[in-house]
Amino acid sequence: MKYIPILFTSYCLIAVLVYGSAGNGESHAIRQENQAAQAGLQLWRRHNCVSCHSIYGKGGHIGADLTNVVSRRGAVYIEHILETGKGSMPRFPFHDNDVENLIGYLQHINQLGTYPLKNDMSAEFFGHNSEQVSSVVR
Ligand code: HEC
Repeated sequence: MKYIPILFTSYCLIAVLVYGSAGNGESHAIRQENQAAQAGLQLWRRHNCVSCHSIYGKGGHIGADLTNVVSRRGAVYIEHILETGKGSMPRFPFHDNDVENLIGYLQHINQLGTYPLKNDMSAEFFGHNSEQVSSVVR
């Protein structure tokens, strides 16, 4: 029993160290490398892209999920659709640097992960083999 306070103190110390370093790493990455992504996020919010589009499945579903649109379509296509619009996608007459920033934001999101998860990844997640999962998902 006498070790409990020592264990508790070590736990707190480790928690602070881990949390502290993760936090710094993240803000460093955003400040140093992703000014475009940050400016892009402001535009994303101001023009309410999320009313029609989702990221990681969260948001509107009138247009496609845009988590990996940079890999799927490439920057030139995105530039074009913003300029001209398409179907229910309105045209956005942005300045060139706004377009760059929005694409910077979408590039940043694209690097963070994949959505939707591949079948075998969700299989691992749920602890089943991928055939079992496919039979439920499809
Ligand atoms: C009123 C709803 C609406 C809003 C608001 C909207 N979009 Fe869209 N968007 C769409 C629809 C619908 C499509 C599909 C167009 C098509 O291919 O026919 C689309 C397509 C796209 C695509 C191509 C997706 C793909 O997989 O081909 C991108 C990129 C995109 N929008 C970005 C944006 C951004 C960035 C914003 C905010 C500045 C935005 N959209 C705002 C409806 C919207």
